[in-house]
Amino acid sequence: MNGPARLWLFCLSLQALCSPGISDEWEADVVHKLKAMTESCVVIPCTFNYPGMKKSSGQLRGIWSKKNDVKKIIYDEDQSKVDNAYKGRTKLVGDLAEKNCSLEIDDVKSHDNDEFCFRIEIPETDQYSFKDNCVMISTFEDPKIPKLNQHHQDPVEGSPFTVTCSVIHTCPSHVPSLTWSRGTQDKIIAEHKDMGHGNWETQSILTFIPTVGDDHAELTCTVTYRGRGPLKGAIKLNVKTKLGMLYTIIIPVAAVLGTAVVFGLLCMLMRKKYKNRIEALQRSASNGQVQQNDWG
Ligand SMILES: *[C@@H]1O[C@H](CO)[C@@H](O)[C@H](O)[C@H]1NC(C)=O
Repeated sequence: MNGPARLWLFCLSLQALCSPGISDEWEADVVHKLKAMTESCVVIPCTFNYPGMKKSSGQLRGIWSKKNDVKKIIYDEDQSKVDNAYKGRTKLVGDLAEKNCSLEIDDVKSHDNDEFCFRIEIPETDQYSFKDNCVMISTFEDPKIPKLNQHHQDPVEGSPFTVTCSVIHTCPSHVPSLTWSRGTQDKIIAEHKDMGHGNWETQSILTFIPTVGDDHAELTCTVTYRGRGPLKGAIKLNVKTKLGMLYTIIIPVAAVLGTAVVFGLLCMLMRKKYKNRIEALQRSASNGQVQQNDWG
C-alpha cells in the first residue's frame, strides 16, 4: 500500500469513528402489518435515516402516501396537499429531527385497509421514497372485550384479592380508559405497556378485600376506547367465607377421625371374634393330640 492510500484509509476510519451523526444510507424501519379498529386511532411506528449530517425538523419534510397511488397523500404538513378522505385525520407524532416518522391515523375508516409508505424530502437537496418499507393496515369493526384475570385462586373473605383487567390497542396517544364496577374506593393501579410492533397493552389492577356480600357477585371492568365503547368484561366472584373455610377443614378431619374410629372398633371386634375361634381351635387341636396318643 502506498502512502496516499494509507492516509485515505486512515481518514476514512477516523471519520467512521468520530462522526456518528453522519450516515450514508436511505433507510426506513416501519412496522409491516397493523390491525386497527375502526373509529379508533392507530400509531404506525416508523424511523428513518438519510445520508449526510443530521438536520433539523425545519430542513426536513415528511410525507405519507398510498403505496399503489403515490399521488394520494395521506399526510403532509401542507393540509391542502392531503387527500380529502384523510384531511384532519393524520398527524406526524414522530419528531423528524430525531429521525422518527411515526404517523397517527385517527378515526380509522374501513377504507383505511391499505398499504402506506413514507417519503422524506430535504428541500432543494434530495428526496427519497421508502417503497420497500411500507405498512399494511387491516381494519376490523368489533372492539375486543377486556380480559379479566384473577391472580390467586378464589377470593377469601377478609383477605386482599387482586384482579387485572387488560386490553390490547394501537392508540397510545389516546389510551383506553378502564373502570371497575366496584367504584374507586379500592386500590387501583393503571399500567401502559409497549408490546412492540405498534401494539400497546393497557391494564388496570384492582385490589380489594372481599366480604360475604361479594359472593356470587359479578365483577365487571368497562373499557372505553378512543372513539368506541363502553364495553364490559366480567368475572363471577366465588368468595370463600371464613365459616366455609372452617367447614372445609372440619369436615375432612371429622371424616378421617370417624373412619379411624370405625376401623379401630371393627379391628377390636374381629380380634375378639378370632381370639375366641383361635382358642377354640387350639383347644380342639390339643384334644386331638390326646386322642391320637390314646390310639397309639
Ligand atoms: C417515535 O415517536 C413515537 C411517538 O412520539 C414514540 O412513541 C416512539 O417511541 C418514537 N420512537 C423512537 C425509536 O424513538
